[in-house]
Amino acid sequence: MSKTAELILEGRSYQLPIVEGTEKERAIDISSLRGESGYITLDEGYVNTGSCRSQITFIDGEKGILRYRGIPIEELAEKCSFVEVAHLIIMNKLPNREELKRFSEMLTANELLHEDIKYHFEGFPPNAHPMAILSSMINAGSCFYPELLTEMRSQFDVQAARLLSQVRTIAAFAYRKSRGLPIIYPKPDYRYTENFLHMMFSLPYNDIEMKREAVKALDLIFLLHADHEQNCSTSTVRMVASARSNLFASAAAGVCALWGSLHGGANQVVIEMLKEIHESGDDGSRFIEDAKNKSSGRRLMGFGHRVYKNYDPRAKILKKACDDLFAKLDRSDPLLDIAKRLEEAALKDSYFIERQLYPNVDFYSGIAMRALGIPVEMFTVIFAIGRMPGWIANYKEVMEDPNARISRPRQIYMGPTLNHFVPIDQR
Ligand SMILES: CC(C)(COP(=O)(O)OP(=O)(O)OC[C@H]1O[C@@H](n2cnc3c(N)ncnc32)[C@H](O)[C@@H]1OP(=O)(O)O)[C@@H](O)C(=O)NCCC(=O)NCCS
Repeated sequence: MSKTAELILEGRSYQLPIVEGTEKERAIDISSLRGESGYITLDEGYVNTGSCRSQITFIDGEKGILRYRGIPIEELAEKCSFVEVAHLIIMNKLPNREELKRFSEMLTANELLHEDIKYHFEGFPPNAHPMAILSSMINAGSCFYPELLTEMRSQFDVQAARLLSQVRTIAAFAYRKSRGLPIIYPKPDYRYTENFLHMMFSLPYNDIEMKREAVKALDLIFLLHADHEQNCSTSTVRMVASARSNLFASAAAGVCALWGSLHGGANQVVIEMLKEIHESGDDGSRFIEDAKNKSSGRRLMGFGHRVYKNYDPRAKILKKACDDLFAKLDRSDPLLDIAKRLEEAALKDSYFIERQLYPNVDFYSGIAMRALGIPVEMFTVIFAIGRMPGWIANYKEVMEDPNARISRPRQIYMGPTLNHFVPIDQR
């Protein structure tokens, strides 16, 4: 017999179904509540609200578990490439050799932007933030591929491959534009991540020397960001998709949400914070004291997470990847030492312990990207490239759900009660 929760409101009892997920997560289904009782629920910031049923990613924030389609992130990080993981997330299947070949060929076939899109880059001022360019140019894709607007279901695989492939081309072009450098086209014989580094750093007369460790580290960064269930940007993508907007428009909205400093933008702010500590000569303790004091308006960036109340498993993998990368490149970075000292101090501090604040993915990703020579304003763009498989898969889930409805929350109105129009000379 299915379980229910009983809610008693004004002496009347309501039976609300309990929904249980495959990992035994439980929810009270309140979809009939307003119709039956006139009440809605209020949950600002959606801290307790499940917005959908999804089969893509599982997180247990208390235990620090992250799985894509059931497979632990640690196994994928060790054994897979980003493109394999993208296939897993979007197509719901780890690809066999033939499928991987076909998927990779689709990415290659779609890597070039429509030649006319190039002219749009000319309109941006030289110091435009690449996230603004990325979002605008992804949305501009809707103008160049009119079939996006009409044939979404039948052509989904091609559209997904086009977006996944072109986000990297647009990102690299945006960077080149911001530096006044000539655009470098993708090379069909390079793999996904190699191609991105090539478009970022090669010169028309000189291809960059591709270091294996650097390609591997960036591929890992993409992979670790590939999906993270209903975070702010993914929920944004789903919300836009729920209105039956096209894939490119929905992903462009995701980029805008990701840009914020409490979300993907945190990786850029972490580096700025670490630099500030480095330049001040402080050991970080002053910064930690500021972060604990609400009136300072500061937070320890790269710490804390809405879902993880334990060490973010991605941060654990990245911390080790940073150590490996620096050892292999025979380099060091004072910011890595400061980050480790900050982490150690925060994890011993009762403020962070009581609030279960641990390093999140952004704490170490910026340091790894600095080692790869990626400029700080591109950090959130890298996050966006990595997150694209998750956005595409979530978009697909919305589109394929026969019961999907437009996302339209309600509110509790707290404004003035009825009052009347006053003519302008009587105000
Ligand atoms: C990620 C984040 C937005 C989650 O927000 P949230 O779930 O709404 O968490 P809350 O704001 O409710 O925080 C809970 C408590 O911890 C404190 N807190 C959370 N993150 C903190 C941080 N990074 N530094 C200092 N205090 C922090 C809050 O002030 C709050 O304290 P209180 O209970 O005394 O009021 C938040 O932890 C944060 O701002 N982190 C820094 C930015 C960041 O790294 N973002 C990337 C996320 S992947």
